[in-house]
Amino acid sequence: MSQRNQTLGEFIIENQSSFKYTSGELSRLINSIRLAAKVVNHEVNKAGLVDILGAAGDTNIQGENQQKLDVYANEKFIQTMTDRNIVCGIASEEEDDFITINSKDENHQNKYVVLIDPLDGSSNIDVNVSVGTIFSVYRRVTPVGTPVQLEDFLQKGTKQVAAGYIIYGTSTMLVYTTGDGVNGFTLNPAIGSYYLSHPDMKFPEDGRIYSVNEGNYIHFPKGIKNYIKYCQMEEGDRPYTSRYIGSLVSDFHRNMIKGGIYMYPKSSKASNGKLRLLYECNPMAFLAEQANGKASDGFTRIMEIEPTELHQRVPFICGSKNMVEKAEEFMRNAE
Ligand code: AHG
Ligand code: MN
Ligand code: MN
Repeated sequence: MSQRNQTLGEFIIENQSSFKYTSGELSRLINSIRLAAKVVNHEVNKAGLVDILGAAGDTNIQGENQQKLDVYANEKFIQTMTDRNIVCGIASEEEDDFITINSKDENHQNKYVVLIDPLDGSSNIDVNVSVGTIFSVYRRVTPVGTPVQLEDFLQKGTKQVAAGYIIYGTSTMLVYTTGDGVNGFTLNPAIGSYYLSHPDMKFPEDGRIYSVNEGNYIHFPKGIKNYIKYCQMEEGDRPYTSRYIGSLVSDFHRNMIKGGIYMYPKSSKASNGKLRLLYECNPMAFLAEQANGKASDGFTRIMEIEPTELHQRVPFICGSKNMVEKAEEFMRNAE
């Protein structure tokens, strides 16, 4: 039952029993992410003061080294989850290899691994434009109590048990799914609590927004070029309108609310596109599907792709169902 003014904490407790693994471990994990997100939010919010407080690489007045925000966010999320002893491993876009968490508890029973893009869209920070954090959660496949292995992280997106993002925007929101729809919570900064502001989020089936870096147009595959032309053509409710923030979390968030498609295709410059399957595409694909949307590499469902390496990149097309299917049709026809 959802009620007005429900906080994220209340929502987690209320929904814990409906989740198929009821140990409470996943709830504690989401709790630790919401906590780290508040700390990162605070830091991101004062990014504009960097000229006053000192830029990355400088030493501040306390003799501490100023850090880049993506490094800072990476440390905060890892530290929060490690200290609370709730996961057995973490993989991050900012780390070359995965991190094994050796529990202080002798017979530690932690079942979950987390994959994270601690700061997505980080090139937007200097210009005061929204950035985000993306996370993805799996149950480990190797035996509980032993150190995690690469195979615990290289799981297909269909195996995710939770995924979500935090958007540090005009307001800060945490949006997540545990496989039972998508819910969005807005942070009230005065109180430090997140409130259920966007229950049961759904992509409109159709939309009018396309989001792609058109600066790469000449390098795109024929199918994508044709689809972009289709979006620009005058017919019915077209031409569509173009919106591209350059921050996946923000572009996705807007498209989910208004209806739209996000594309980061492969190009003659980048044969698999830019986005990371494990840290960016799979979590966004899980959210999209839970919100009636779709995510594809142009031909294959993103969550069906078998990962082969931690930092693997894939072409990514995601958003309103009918728009993604239309883009796929253009891809097939250009083969
Ligand atoms: P990150 O900051 O984690 O490296 O990710 C940036 C990603 C994504 O958020 C965004 O949509 C895309 O890069 C933008 O890339 P282009 O500047 O090539 O368009
Ligand atoms: Mn990113
Ligand atoms: Mn990043």
